[in-house]
Amino acid sequence: MILQEECEGNVKQLLAQVFKKSLEATVPNEADLHPLIAICNENFGDYQCNNAMSLFGKIRGTMPEFRNPRSVGEAIMKNLPESEMIESCSVAGPGFVNVVLSRTWIAKSLNKMLMEGIHTWAPKLSIKRAVVDFSSPNIAKEMHVGHLRSTIIGDTLAKILEFSGVEVLRRNHVGDWGTQFGMLIEFLFEQAPQAEDDNEIPIEDLQAFYKQSKKRFDDDSIFKERAQKAVVSLQGGDPKYRKAWAQICEISRREFQKVYECLGVHIEEKGESYYNPYIPSVLEGLRNEGLIEESEGAQVIHIEGKKIPLIVVKRDGGFNYASTDLTALWYRINEEKAEWIIYVTDVGQREHFEMVFHAAKRAGWLPLDDNTYPKVTHVGFGLVLGEDGKRFRTRSSEVVRLVDLLDEAKARSKQALIERGKAAEWTEEELEQTAEAVGYGAVKYFDLMDHRLTNYTFNFDQMLNDKGKTAVSLLYAHARICSIIRKSGKDIEELKKGGEIVLDHAYERALGLHLLQFSEIVEEACSNLLPNVLCKYLYDLSDDFTNFYNQCKVNGSTEETSRLLLCEATAVVMRKCFELLGITPVYRI
Ligand code: ARG
Repeated sequence: MILQEECEGNVKQLLAQVFKKSLEATVPNEADLHPLIAICNENFGDYQCNNAMSLFGKIRGTMPEFRNPRSVGEAIMKNLPESEMIESCSVAGPGFVNVVLSRTWIAKSLNKMLMEGIHTWAPKLSIKRAVVDFSSPNIAKEMHVGHLRSTIIGDTLAKILEFSGVEVLRRNHVGDWGTQFGMLIEFLFEQAPQAEDDNEIPIEDLQAFYKQSKKRFDDDSIFKERAQKAVVSLQGGDPKYRKAWAQICEISRREFQKVYECLGVHIEEKGESYYNPYIPSVLEGLRNEGLIEESEGAQVIHIEGKKIPLIVVKRDGGFNYASTDLTALWYRINEEKAEWIIYVTDVGQREHFEMVFHAAKRAGWLPLDDNTYPKVTHVGFGLVLGEDGKRFRTRSSEVVRLVDLLDEAKARSKQALIERGKAAEWTEEELEQTAEAVGYGAVKYFDLMDHRLTNYTFNFDQMLNDKGKTAVSLLYAHARICSIIRKSGKDIEELKKGGEIVLDHAYERALGLHLLQFSEIVEEACSNLLPNVLCKYLYDLSDDFTNFYNQCKVNGSTEETSRLLLCEATAVVMRKCFELLGITPVYRI
């Protein structure tokens, strides 16, 4: 990821600047010196600079004063300019330069963040606008757990990018333009002839309606023919059909909205139908570039290395998923001027996107080099499994309804709160809100905490466990910190003005350093589009806090002010992590 400018909280980046000077002094005749800074995994230091070995390879023979990589490392260390960041350095093995950061500097950075706000630690990316295409369920069909994953992952990625200063167009690419509509509309007219005139159509349960019409379609060939004609009428713009289509979409939209409201997700619909008017001219452009060929009556784009070509016009002359996606990509690049276009779907669609991206590169819409903007990325994710190890289904092997899942997570967390005696302590409203924050948060964290490509087994007991790697335990940890601060009776704003964080104890220092690493973690999550990196960071942070709290007395100690401020800094960073992960923090538990 190209960062636009230096970011105050990014330790790696700040160290890279210091080491760059040293590298320039060490090998003055080398151009293109890029400091390689990494977190130190050994106990030799906090960070290390790894340039010595490769640099020795480059200068061998031209600079006889260097006999081996280690001597290059020693020179890099010697040439380091004075820096308030660094407490001490050492050289290890074949020239790794280890750095121990100054605890005064770490503390100073934390104090500054407390005064100026956590936004000062946001990475600053070099791009201005991105599209995140996520959620994207299909009208009249079920919104299944795969769409839940897409919604949760996509929302987090959008939030992380937004935090990093990028304008994100959050796109719901709903499937609202398939041949299924012919069948649905024809069935509607058959079942409820008055629907042709009425403004409200009598569909209670759109999914059940979909199933019935599908059965009718499969069983009766005359109906099937009518349904196929209906598609033509709809696509030809017949007002009667357009109206029924719009009404069916509206019913679905209301259903989807319930899920988005539960999850607190904001997304803007630009469904497949939106791009329909643009398809002919986009395909015309591709045809002029010589990309489109005839194949068995269809029009296709051959993709190097792929056995099957990308079909862009079907044999019957109709457009398909690929024609729409190509056009949407064209639109996003040329009309919306997005520099990074991100698609969040299950891994099953990887091939489809690879073909679309490949075609776009051949058409010259995108640079051939994947590291140059505008660029496209498919963010794939694994399956959600049931306890039986198969795709997650209900007992009657139906697709699980998302709203039911979320309701159950909330109900279970409410029950747990009641068992802890909260019903007597809290108002009903507080109970409801906490149950929602914990229940929905648990579903989200469970979905995000492992690498997105891995499959996971849906399990309420695990995700609602109040110990271990769960939102519940993290939300509790945050509430506990808030309660430590409350119990001190001190006003944090006053403490900030009069006092400051000092990191004398080893566990204070460890916690302080971890807090400071927030910025580079967000940058990593952003560059690689991996929310699990942030989940792990948050979990480790709560661990570091526990170590600190077990070893360092806070309230009533001589270090009270500094330690309360350290508690506050931890709570601030935790809350930002929750926010980026779409989890609502709770303050009391
Ligand atoms: N509607 C599709 C599905 O449910 C996902 C669409 C993803 N986005 C896209 N631009 N193709 O599988």
